[in-house]
Amino acid sequence: MFRRKSIITILAASMVLSGGAVYAQSNNTQNGGAATAFDNKVIKKISADNMYNNIALLSEQPRAAGTEGEVRAVNYIESQFKSLGFETEIQPFPIYDNVQIVKVNVGGSDLGGISPHPFSGSVVGKVTAELVNVGKASPNEIGDLTGKIALIERGDLTFIEKVMNVLNKGAVGVLMYNNVDTGNNFGQVNSTQKIPAVAITQAQGQELVQKLKSGQLTATLDVGKMERVEKTSYNVIASLKPNKNKDTGQIVTIGAHHDSVPGGPGANDDASGVSAVLELARIFAKTPIDTEIRFLTFGSEERGLVGSSFYAKSLPKSDVDRMVAHFQMDMIGGRDAGADNPAGGLIMYTIDGKKNLVTDLGAASGARTMSEVIPYGKLGRSDHQPFHELGIPSALFIHSPVEPWYHQPTDTLDKISKEKLQQAAEIVGASVYQIARPDTPALKVARVAPVLVDYDFENRPVQ
Ligand code: BES
Ligand code: ZN
Repeated sequence: MFRRKSIITILAASMVLSGGAVYAQSNNTQNGGAATAFDNKVIKKISADNMYNNIALLSEQPRAAGTEGEVRAVNYIESQFKSLGFETEIQPFPIYDNVQIVKVNVGGSDLGGISPHPFSGSVVGKVTAELVNVGKASPNEIGDLTGKIALIERGDLTFIEKVMNVLNKGAVGVLMYNNVDTGNNFGQVNSTQKIPAVAITQAQGQELVQKLKSGQLTATLDVGKMERVEKTSYNVIASLKPNKNKDTGQIVTIGAHHDSVPGGPGANDDASGVSAVLELARIFAKTPIDTEIRFLTFGSEERGLVGSSFYAKSLPKSDVDRMVAHFQMDMIGGRDAGADNPAGGLIMYTIDGKKNLVTDLGAASGARTMSEVIPYGKLGRSDHQPFHELGIPSALFIHSPVEPWYHQPTDTLDKISKEKLQQAAEIVGASVYQIARPDTPALKVARVAPVLVDYDFENRPVQ
């Protein structure tokens, strides 16, 4: 369990709910607080197992924006919302990649397997010539290469030395294969080495070496220029509408980003946040509310908040005017995140470093549900930014400092803590319910006395 404070100082906070009522609330100012009956309607139903299972599924493969992995995640997330009976929308938006298309053709057929990779600084252009195996391209291995393409094995000498050696013998192109089984992302030429130079894998290279043993081969190296390629990324939007007869007209949003960094499984960043969005959706689907709750997962966060910015721009003013709070969950399951900070390291970050309705609700909910006052701090770096820019009270819920495997291939399921997931989902769930439950803003008549909560600003290093 997280460390509990025996006495919570509950002092001052203010928030404006619809109708101008101003409160945070807790029913206990002395001995650690306690979840209210209202909190329990939400938090007792949260299943960390559900969240964990969804993270397991989502982190089976990377979900980089614009890839098959993202599409798979998006379809899964939408299907979950649909099975809850929500109105859903998959919102596509364009993203742009700079790519250089490189082709290698030997003996009339394009090289199979992964696409060849241009050396950094390679000339853009196409050359066709006889392919000659020159081993590792030390000067004593090479004969005359006038007008030929050199097939070189990586290793021993630097890239630039090897290219110099074959250029000195008249070569017009370089095709270099790896000497280890680590792909083809290597190689460079210097600014005087004006030659198409291309890297291929060890397997591709060894196959060519074999083929050359049985006769001459003509090769074409075609190094294309950098081009901007459009791809598509997606946001998933699911709306839970309140009872028509009891509708405040307001909207609360809960968000996470479903994309990962390329090559990373992103279990904590941010399959964890998505799992909490799905879990809260499951619970609120069966809970009477008087405020629309929108469940959002964004694509292309890792490319610079592209999905959430697109979503924010796409909102009609009539929606923005009704949006009262945005709760962003990003990296809420890290077993070792948060170091030994109180509350398991949970912190609420706002863009301007000021408290707002979301942090007030979060602090009060934390005080009640886990007897721990969550601090707030100042940080962007996630999808709460575009909501803040629209003037909507917003905060990022995260455990900080983050773990060393942030953005690494090792951000995997085994580093996820069910307890951390449960904690963050409870606090966000209880906070959202404060707004969306049908008896608010008439908190005065509720069973729970409004009490004001003080919580501290922390300038905590996040990495
Ligand atoms: N989940 C991170 C944000 C984060 C990381 C917050 C570490 C606090 C500590 C997010 O997915 C991310 O990596 N964001 C980018 C910035 C974004 C604008 C591309 C980052 O922080 O580099
Ligand atoms: Zn993230």
